[in-house]
Amino acid sequence: MTTLGTPLSPHATKVMLLGSGELGKEVLIALQRLGVETIAVDRYDNAPGQQVAHHARTITMSDPAQLKALIEAERPHLVVPEIEAIATPMLEELEAAGTVRVIPTARAARLTMDREGIRVLAAETLGLPTSPYKFCNSLQELQAAIDGENGQGIGYPCIVKPVMSSSGKGQSKIDGPADVQKAWDYAMAGGRVSHGRVIVEGFIDFDYEITQLTVRSVGADGQIETHFCDPIGHVQVSGDYVESWQPHPMHPAALEKSRQIAKAVTDNLGGQGLFGVELFVKGQDVWFSEVSPRPHDTGLVTLCTQHQSEFELHARAILGLPVDTRLRNPGASAVIYGGVEAQGIVFDGVDEALRVPDTDLRLFGKPESFAKRRMGVALARASDVETARTNAKLAASKVKPRVA
Ligand SMILES: Nc1ncnc2c1ncn2[C@@H]1O[C@H](COP(=O)(O)OP(=O)(O)O)[C@@H](O)[C@H]1O
Ligand SMILES: [Mg+2]
Repeated sequence: MTTLGTPLSPHATKVMLLGSGELGKEVLIALQRLGVETIAVDRYDNAPGQQVAHHARTITMSDPAQLKALIEAERPHLVVPEIEAIATPMLEELEAAGTVRVIPTARAARLTMDREGIRVLAAETLGLPTSPYKFCNSLQELQAAIDGENGQGIGYPCIVKPVMSSSGKGQSKIDGPADVQKAWDYAMAGGRVSHGRVIVEGFIDFDYEITQLTVRSVGADGQIETHFCDPIGHVQVSGDYVESWQPHPMHPAALEKSRQIAKAVTDNLGGQGLFGVELFVKGQDVWFSEVSPRPHDTGLVTLCTQHQSEFELHARAILGLPVDTRLRNPGASAVIYGGVEAQGIVFDGVDEALRVPDTDLRLFGKPESFAKRRMGVALARASDVETARTNAKLAASKVKPRVA
């Protein structure tokens, strides 16, 4: 039986979000609706999620001492990582000591905080199909990994990514020997932590890529159940999501393989919550790419397509409540970038955007805009995905961020 408390009372059910961006904000809203007391943590003040939570805290989440002090002071029932750059070994310590429960598990947070832990688990421990890959610590090692011995190298084209990075930062494609130095330098400048390690992956010439949202929740019998959402298709530009839609049509065999891979990975990571499993598909072949043990940016589309969005599903699953992953109608999302570099920007054309039929908007409320920062998203419902994509992009294009 799940019992929930009253917020701001001695019997509150307390949940702490580590990272409070646009995805955390929606999880926090879902938790608020269930009367959960929420603590939104981020590295800067007035982060989107901090604007809708009971409590806002600003710390350096990659600093183990700061993280420990905050968790011990707040004593949340659950700690929910929303980003990767967290002192995850400290979360493992606190979880092992019984101080707190980490979603989905502290081990899952550690394994997915960089590309190495999860890739080695998926490819080597679980034997799942992935792109060929190697980890390199220098330009020389990178060149050697591409060239290999006796034709066993990664070859061209390939993709280089810092092991610690997200949203395509520091990531580039190498088409031939002339690009190697540039890709290395770009990875060194774009990594989150400049410890100089990259993954080089063989380029997969996929037909399309999907996110398979997968939920581990508790069933009526108290056992963990795995639920799948309809596949989400998306377009990435320079490794960053610009557009997504649901459902993405798939050959039944490819869908079946995608779900087998998603099940294998999420079974191993364990715990409760929603996962975003990224897969590449070509014909009936499927490759595992990566997984987020939390809501996925391409899953913003579920705000307008499912009975329960990925954020509501995550909130329910972590609290031990039942979930419903059914699609309600097709839909699409299109990203609204800042375009300008300024604080406290304004958005023109919101009315025109919402005049596009069956659309909705999320403006995240980020205090500072950058040219390539995601500031909002347009959502569109329709009877078919093509119409939804057209309308989502149209609505997004009507919103014009500018310096106030
Ligand atoms: N090996 C690959 N072959 C082809 N495309 C790739 C490969 N790796 C990444 N990509 C493209 O780049 C995008 C971002 O890469 P990903 O590994 O998901 O990085 P991030 O963690 O920044 O999301 C993918 O969604 C895909 O479009
Ligand atoms: Mg990705």
